Amino acid sequence: MSRIYLDYNASTPIAPEVAVVMREAMEGAFGNPSSPHWAGAPARRMVEEGRSQVAALLGCAPEEVVFTSGGSESNNFALKGAFFASKRARRQIITTRIEHPAIIAPCRFLETLGAEITWLPVDSAGRVDPDDLERAITADTILVSIMHANNEVGTIQPIEECAAIAREHGIPFHTDAAQSVGKIATRVDDLGVDLLTIAGHKLYAPKGVGALYIRSGTVLEPLIHGAGHEGGRRAGTESALLAAGLGEACVLARDLSPMAKLKALRDRFWNGLRERFGNGIVLNGHPELRLPNTLDVSFVGHVGGDILAALEGVAASTGSACHSGRIELSPVLEAMGVAPEVGMGAIRFSLGRGTTAAEIDDVLRRLPAAVRHS
Ligand SMILES: Cc1ncc(COP(=O)(O)O)c(C=O)c1O
Repeated sequence: MSRIYLDYNASTPIAPEVAVVMREAMEGAFGNPSSPHWAGAPARRMVEEGRSQVAALLGCAPEEVVFTSGGSESNNFALKGAFFASKRARRQIITTRIEHPAIIAPCRFLETLGAEITWLPVDSAGRVDPDDLERAITADTILVSIMHANNEVGTIQPIEECAAIAREHGIPFHTDAAQSVGKIATRVDDLGVDLLTIAGHKLYAPKGVGALYIRSGTVLEPLIHGAGHEGGRRAGTESALLAAGLGEACVLARDLSPMAKLKALRDRFWNGLRERFGNGIVLNGHPELRLPNTLDVSFVGHVGGDILAALEGVAASTGSACHSGRIELSPVLEAMGVAPEVGMGAIRFSLGRGTTAAEIDDVLRRLPAAVRHS
């Protein structure tokens, strides 16, 4: 059985270059980065070098980068940090209906503490209308959080326009860039954002590390209280190992030129699908304003999970889940108004650095039989 990995939006392997610097960190930087003696110094150097590398990718100052355990923590920090820092003088958080659970669940939690969440709708391509944001803002708004690119369908949001609207109203703007970093440009001043989430394992760094960009002057209550690590914003002894890994991954992510090859492969995949399935296949997400590696397609009248089960050895994700014999559409497809008979056949193929044309052609060759047998 050949194994083909087309699930890079779920996670990426650690890049060889990242593994090299992590090996060095493991062997030479065991000390506590806060220790003033000889054992602490190399660890501190690695942490700060990693921070500078993350900052260089985002175009911000190193002091504006806080290391976290990943995308979920960064999102929780942005939302809860802003809510608690507001001392509950204001209540409203504006977000969208297509966010990752790492935004939706903390918002639901904050609702139990009195927050009022406004869920912006999206159009059939999964895009938010900036006018809807403008209309939703009130004197009570604490924070706006809109993801940069969607993990499922890859649609890219009009972040520059939305962030500009928030700024006009003096409201901090957060974007969950877990899926966009390393795939499209994510410089914080170009986007105009105040807070931005990075998840290491989506960009060829290990799991368990991420970062939150916090624009200087943006006040957040820490999630983790303790000693004064990370400028008092996140307590806990920093990991030189993880910081070095994320930093190196960010160095690699600055070069977006490999994305042209991925996009070409992705489009070859889509064209091949259309040749084989004609009207039996539907693209989910925006036709152009979409991550270059992401192809979410629906096999109309079929169940995505059944097709994947018949495609032995191919790792990809479905857009629907089967609960007690009933197919439930993903909230993202539902928010886009995708019809159930279309949405239930959704499969997300996400390509990455290791994807080859031979793999795409192999999947294309095997798909008709898999669909027939599903
Ligand atoms: C858009 C988005 N945000 C947040 C996360 C969560 O990141 P992590 O797995 O690092 O906690 C993910 C991971 O799937 C994601 O795709």
